Amino acid sequence: MGVIEKCYSYTRSREGKASGYYPFFVSFDGRTDGVARLSDGRELVMCGSNDYLGLSTDPRVTGAAAEAARDLGAGCTGSRLLNGNLELHERLERELAAFFGKEAALVLTTGYQANLGAVAGLCGPGDTVFVDKDAHASLIDAVRLSRARLQWFDHNDTADLAAKLARHPGRGGRLVAVDGVYSMEGDLCPLPELVRVCEEFDATLLVDDAHGAGVLSAGRGTCDHFGLTDRVPLITLTFSKAFGSIGGAVLGDEAVIEYLRHHARSLLFSASSSPANTAAALAALDIVRDEPWRCETVVKKADYMRRELAALGYRTGNSESPVVPVDTHDELHTVIGWKRLMEEGVYVNAVLPPAASPRLRTSYTAVQTDEHLERTLAAFATVRSDLGPVLTDAA
Ligand SMILES: Cc1ncc(COP(=O)(O)O)c(C=O)c1O
Repeated sequence: MGVIEKCYSYTRSREGKASGYYPFFVSFDGRTDGVARLSDGRELVMCGSNDYLGLSTDPRVTGAAAEAARDLGAGCTGSRLLNGNLELHERLERELAAFFGKEAALVLTTGYQANLGAVAGLCGPGDTVFVDKDAHASLIDAVRLSRARLQWFDHNDTADLAAKLARHPGRGGRLVAVDGVYSMEGDLCPLPELVRVCEEFDATLLVDDAHGAGVLSAGRGTCDHFGLTDRVPLITLTFSKAFGSIGGAVLGDEAVIEYLRHHARSLLFSASSSPANTAAALAALDIVRDEPWRCETVVKKADYMRRELAALGYRTGNSESPVVPVDTHDELHTVIGWKRLMEEGVYVNAVLPPAASPRLRTSYTAVQTDEHLERTLAAFATVRSDLGPVLTDAA
């Protein structure tokens, strides 16, 4: 079959849309702060956002973005290497390095590109990258791009990692890549054990802290939460979650960042982050630094929702972050549960394989009100009584 023929016989998404049970590419109209406004006019409590601190709509962040666009232009129209490097990018790098406690930072256009740049910039044929089975897709794509060998280990299983490192021949470099906070489960990586195993086997550890940065440990993220920032050589970040903008960064020693500045293809061959996005991330970083109550609030709200959802009979996994998954048994019940919650006025993310095993992913933000949370719990209670044990029975 030619490369495009399969597209003409691809009917799955159209069938899903026709049935009314298609949970993807939902069209929002305007802001998605505590409330999601759908383009058909409905307003739903937003429990599916990564805007954990509510900064994407904070006037200081949007104001900084607007001012930067007006003063510096809508885009940089080139890569940082040749003609798209702004003093603003460099200021953000200095501030990120100081805030997260690393020597240096490299700002890229997205978090996805930060992972591609870090992994494929440092690893190549002959090296092996050991990747947690639940790690984000961008880390997997990064290994593929690098042409290093990909070696999976079981999720958060440091014994399995150690066994695989022990079996691995001594030749070539070894990188271990994990998420700080897992985006679909909301659980944390076992960082103290990971650090110990990596040091024992002389492997370099990379923590993708997309969902921990800005949230855990007064915003300083998962490595700071465990007091281990000094012993994690590479941290990657995104600004598309708690920082309310878009963009990403790699943090590490100055020598490593300088090397990546000249070897990360996702930096060298892609236009740099726009003035608006960069200024927004800088403004958000100021707020994270000055208003630690936001991190405390979102963590408390998620704790409350975890407790209350469990009291309703839902299984919420091992979450310790603002991401709280709700088990749904199978794909069918995921989309049915998702639709019923929409009908009850709540938007959550339906997660289906291959992204992860079926579940409803809920997430909480500092700007949700108590009333939003109570409405959400009422909706989950109604859906539980409609759909019954199959969705909620404890395993
Ligand atoms: C764990 C993790 N890493 C990286 C990314 C990519 O970040 P970005 O949206 O900035 O490309 C995401 C985004 O979903 C993520 O969840």
